[in-house]
Amino acid sequence: KSIVILVSGRGSNMEAIVRAAIPGARIAAVISNRPDAAGLQFAAAQGIATAVVDHQAYPERAAFDTALAAAIDAHAPDLVVLAGFMRVLTDAFVRHYEGRLLNIHPSLLPAFPGLHTHRRALQAGVRVHGATVHFVTAELDCGPVVVQAAVPVLDGDSEDSLAARVLAEEHRIYPQAVRWFVDGRLRIDGNRVILRDEAA
Ligand code: GRF
Repeated sequence: KSIVILVSGRGSNMEAIVRAAIPGARIAAVISNRPDAAGLQFAAAQGIATAVVDHQAYPERAAFDTALAAAIDAHAPDLVVLAGFMRVLTDAFVRHYEGRLLNIHPSLLPAFPGLHTHRRALQAGVRVHGATVHFVTAELDCGPVVVQAAVPVLDGDSEDSLAARVLAEEHRIYPQAVRWFVDGRLRIDGNRVILRDEAA
């Protein structure tokens, strides 16, 4: 299965997926909307094709999404993985990749969609927080959940300490979700994901 990974920054989730060396998966390209995304350097050093589709060059969201889709589709991927990709995508884009577009969000959805999830979790006083891998649908940070990981919120946590605890789990569950997809084990049933048996 061929995979295109989209990043906007650090790219540590992309790195975790690349390092997982998932059997049957080939990372065809890493694409960023920001030319300075650190993740691009790691990908290039691994011999992975990289590309930049700079959102600043496209005043219209639709034109950016069209250019982005063209860059992705040049690699004819079976799966597109959003890994810290910080642009909201148009409905047309999301529909085009329906059933083969994954995202990771740093909260236990449906709690805390959107930005600053760790700060908001601390403000809300929740004792459990975490991360969610989900298929992308038109609604932001919605869509069928593939896997979640929970972490405790500890007394004395700062935004940074909580983020680090969640990120360690992200690096575990995102490669896991990609592995399941590549193995053909994920079936979407309405808003739920069914994980099929290994043998099936
Ligand atoms: C991750 O916490 C991800 O869940 C969020 O942004 C962060 C990206 O980190 N959407 P990285 O670029 O994968 O290191």
